[in-house]
Amino acid sequence: MTVTDHLDGAYLRQALEQDVRTGLTSSPKWLPPKWFYDAAGSELFSEITRLAEYYPTRRELDILRRHAIEIARLSRADTLVELGSGTSEKTVLLLDALAAMGTLRAYTPVDVDAVTLEAAAARLAARYPRLDVRPVRADFERHLSLLPRTGRRLVAFLGGTIGNLPPAAREVFLKELRATLRPGDTLLLGTDLVKDRGRLVAAYDDALGVTAAFNRNVLHVINRELDADFPPEAFQHVALYDEDNEWIEMRLRATRPMRVGIRALGLDISFDDGEEMRTEISAKFRHEGVADELAKAGFSVTRWLTDPAGDFALTLASPRPSARA
Ligand code: AVJ
Repeated sequence: MTVTDHLDGAYLRQALEQDVRTGLTSSPKWLPPKWFYDAAGSELFSEITRLAEYYPTRRELDILRRHAIEIARLSRADTLVELGSGTSEKTVLLLDALAAMGTLRAYTPVDVDAVTLEAAAARLAARYPRLDVRPVRADFERHLSLLPRTGRRLVAFLGGTIGNLPPAAREVFLKELRATLRPGDTLLLGTDLVKDRGRLVAAYDDALGVTAAFNRNVLHVINRELDADFPPEAFQHVALYDEDNEWIEMRLRATRPMRVGIRALGLDISFDDGEEMRTEISAKFRHEGVADELAKAGFSVTRWLTDPAGDFALTLASPRPSARA
């Protein structure tokens, strides 16, 4: 399986260096969530999706089970492009539905982690022998223009990953995505929904501590890649729900004062006792919010699909024809 790789060593290294330098010299400190996902982090995320407390994956699967045929019928896509594909576990439902329609020809999973991407691509190529599987290793925030340009495409962005982008970045991302789409293409967007605070926090602070390990993994990544000496066990996992912004925030809290060297950057970073660094936001959405954000980016919503409990939503949208002079 050949992976088209837009994230060569030099690119990744530069992006990580820039993010770590910017985030750790800011006040308050922060790190972007994309660096969670090396092979170990992707495996931990996969474990998270099986936790009792982490409902989003099961709810999204439930919606796909009920509506994949409808999604296939409305999109009539021959090419499925999946952004942030991970293990591609949910994808099988979409591929089966598109194959049953008789339109399916190609599948392009897009992910930042090479190991996860190759494994998923190989598994799906074996399951669908006539499917043209073309994995692309890329950062969906930067490489949208490099995705497959031919065919009638269904672009799936599942899992609620769009919620990891802050509002301004979401707006840019959706506009750029809209610009790469043509009439006939379809967007399938997964969003976690606003709900009871207790369930939200539990989903990001599980009893087994898997999310805590996932959160700390970013420190292992920085230690390995940038020759840093973070003591991950000296950072406590924090998950809180910000009611005003309607998002979950994950943080790492220093449990003692410390100085951390990041040798590759020539940086020495100090942490106060109890100082918190933000590692992820995970926005929770409402129907109106999703519709507004999509409309603003030039999409029209064609279907709003939720599970019976109303925990998660899949939105089908099409590029709105741009106004002509
Ligand atoms: C990758 C966006 C689906 O925000 O819920 C899970 C990542 N972080 N637990 C999410 C995550 C902590 C997850 N997504």
